[in-house]
Amino acid sequence: MVLKVALIGSGAIGSRVAELLDAGAAPGVELTGVVPHGDAGTGFSFDEALDIADVVVECAGVAAVAEFGPRIVSAGKDLLVTSIGALCDDSLRQTLLDDGPGRTLLTTGALGGLDAITAACAGGTIHSITMESRKLPAALIQSWMDGETKDRILASTQPVELLRGGPADFIKAFPKSTNVVSALALAAGTWDVVEAVLIADPAAKQTSHHVVAETSLGTFNIRVTNEASRGNPASSALVPHAVVRGLRTLANANGSFI
Ligand SMILES: NC(=O)c1ccc[n+]([C@@H]2O[C@H](COP(=O)([O-])OP(=O)(O)OC[C@H]3O[C@@H](n4cnc5c(N)ncnc54)[C@H](O)[C@@H]3O)[C@@H](O)[C@H]2O)c1
Repeated sequence: MVLKVALIGSGAIGSRVAELLDAGAAPGVELTGVVPHGDAGTGFSFDEALDIADVVVECAGVAAVAEFGPRIVSAGKDLLVTSIGALCDDSLRQTLLDDGPGRTLLTTGALGGLDAITAACAGGTIHSITMESRKLPAALIQSWMDGETKDRILASTQPVELLRGGPADFIKAFPKSTNVVSALALAAGTWDVVEAVLIADPAAKQTSHHVVAETSLGTFNIRVTNEASRGNPASSALVPHAVVRGLRTLANANGSFI
C-alpha cells in the first residue's frame, strides 16, 4: 500500500523534502501535493490534502502547526511536525497528542539521540538534560531586539550568551531555535527537565547542539554539528532527510531503526 503524503511549507525544508520524495528517496511514499501559503493558487488546497493524504507534513513554522494541526488529527489523518516548538503550548500539545483520532508524529529533525532519551524515559528516570546550542549571530537576530542589541550581537568577536532556560523561555524569544529544546522535553516526557543555553558564536561554522542527558539508565553525551541548509542558513541540511527517513519508516519499517 502506498503512503500518501501532503506537505505544508515549501521553504528550505519543505522544498527539499518534495525533491527527495519526487526522486523516490522513500519507496512506498507518494507526494500528493504542497499546500500553498495564502492564495498562491497551485491547484492544491488544505482541504484536498485532508481528503487525499494519509500523512500531512508540516514544514511551515510554529503558527502553521496551530493553524492546521488540530484539523488534521481530528480528521483522522497523521500529522508529522517539524516545528516541534509549537508543542510548548499546553492546550495545543494536548489536542495534538491526546485527542486523536489521527496521530501526531515528531521528526528527529536536527538532533540525534532522541531514541535513547525516549527509551530511558520509558524504562527509568531522567534526572537532567542540558543543551548548549551555538549558531552564527546573524541567524539569531530577532524582530523584538532593539538596534543596539542587534549591533552588539553582530559586532561581537566573542561568543555571546543570548538565553538560558527551558522550552517556555525559548518559544517566547527564539521560536525558530525552540524545536530542538521542545524535542528534548518531549523525549524526556517532562517539560521541566531541560535547561538550554543559546549562544551567538561568530566562530560557529555550523550550528551545533551539545546535549548531556543524565538518566538512571546512563548518561548520554550527544554532540551534533549540522551543515546549514542550502535555502536557509538558520535551518539544518539534515532536517529534510530526517523527515524523509521518518516517512520511509512509516511506509515500510523493514530494516529501519525505530
Ligand atoms: N525539528 C527541527 O529540528 C527543526 C530544524 C529546523 C527547522 N525546523 C522547523 O521547520 C520549519 C521550516 O523551516 P524552513 O527552513 O523550511 O523555513 P523557511 O522559512 O525556509 O520555509 C517555511 C515555508 O513555510 C511557508 N509557510 C509559512 N506559513 C505557512 C502556511 N500557513 N501555509 C502554508 N505555507 C506556509 C512559507 O511560505 C515558507 O515557504 C521552521 O519554521 C522550523 O520551525 C525544525
